[in-house]
Amino acid sequence: MSHRLTLNRIEPVTHDTHHLVFDRPEGFEFTPGQAVDLALDREGWREEARPFTFVSLPGEAGLEFVIKSYPEHDGVTEQIGRMTPGDAVLIDEPWGAIRDEGAGTFIAGGAGVTPFVAVLRQRLQKEGALEGCRLIFSNATEQDIILRDTFEGMTGLQTEFIVTDQPDPGPGVMAGRIDRAFLKDRVDQEAGKFYVCGPEPMMLAIADALKTHGLEPDQIKFELFSESQQGRLAKQEMAKRSEGQAQTQVTVKIDGAQHSFTMAKGQSVLDAALENNLDAPFACKAGVCSTCMCKVTEGEVEMLSNHALEDYEVERGYRLSCQSYPLSDTLFIDYDHH
Ligand SMILES: Cc1cc2nc3c(=O)[nH]c(=O)nc-3n(C[C@H](O)[C@H](O)[C@H](O)COP(=O)(O)OP(=O)(O)OC[C@H]3O[C@@H](n4cnc5c(N)ncnc54)[C@H](O)[C@@H]3O)c2cc1C
Ligand code: FES
Repeated sequence: MSHRLTLNRIEPVTHDTHHLVFDRPEGFEFTPGQAVDLALDREGWREEARPFTFVSLPGEAGLEFVIKSYPEHDGVTEQIGRMTPGDAVLIDEPWGAIRDEGAGTFIAGGAGVTPFVAVLRQRLQKEGALEGCRLIFSNATEQDIILRDTFEGMTGLQTEFIVTDQPDPGPGVMAGRIDRAFLKDRVDQEAGKFYVCGPEPMMLAIADALKTHGLEPDQIKFELFSESQQGRLAKQEMAKRSEGQAQTQVTVKIDGAQHSFTMAKGQSVLDAALENNLDAPFACKAGVCSTCMCKVTEGEVEMLSNHALEDYEVERGYRLSCQSYPLSDTLFIDYDHH
């Protein structure tokens, strides 16, 4: 962890979400939409880093976050909700898939709205108004809507709030789900980018709906906020199965250069490449966007989930590296082969 931040302020945003303001270390830079791995600087918690997104802008005095607590996880977010000024956290370098790639539709579920806060704030600051931008924001109930007033106050931003677990919400909020039918009249080839950020089941449903309505994959930008229980269990199972198995010798070709390393069979090819400091491409890490596509030219992998590649691509050896786990003792992975 490379920076220690001290908490200046913590305020409630909703019943389970807080706005936290920290000192910004001198020279610390990031791009709106990016997140950072953050751990509590406290005995027993320093190794427990979790990703959170900046809601402040790069030029501002503080580093700010909006963080939802999940007491039932008994983890980091529960502790964050109980922080007081003077407490410290440790952060690493910023990363993340979402950045401003043009006006468009921003679709968020719960705390998945946080990358859009900074992206929209910066766009508003630069352009004076958010022409051509729409926020579709899904939550369980009205009381879960984060920063509703902030979004409604952004000049030019069209907002649509939708709740899944409250049949009769108040004015300005719809009951329902963001699914194929909901998106039908809102998807338009000319509508610019579609940015999607939220939990896995929501992301998969929206990705499917957007493709069905004829959007090109590069019009859709994803960030996965929380894995499904099913995905988590599949990965745990993979890690368990690989215990005691021989490591895999991998060669990765990327940007014309070859790199070799060994990896455990319980790790995804993408995570191993990133751990070895390779600039491997990724966005959703959920098997949805195909950003991490590679060709396996030697050896064999098991792909846990695939919502992006066509059958003929799989037959030709293409795989999603974020979902691919080694089966063989040697592998050759080609990211340049498209
Ligand atoms: C790039 C990125 C940026 C993010 N930015 C933000 C942000 O700005 N604000 C924000 O609020 N969140 C953000 N998140 C989500 C945030 O990282 C998670 O909410 C956080 O990691 C949860 O940490 P935790 O320790 O509380 O629980 P976890 O580490 O998720 O869970 C701890 C344990 O709880 C159990 N568990 C997990 N899910 C459940 C469940 N549904 N029910 C019961 N038990 C469960 C599991 O056994 C797990 O090991 C972001 C995520 C990503 C990927
Ligand atoms: S990173 Fe999106 S499919 Fe792998």
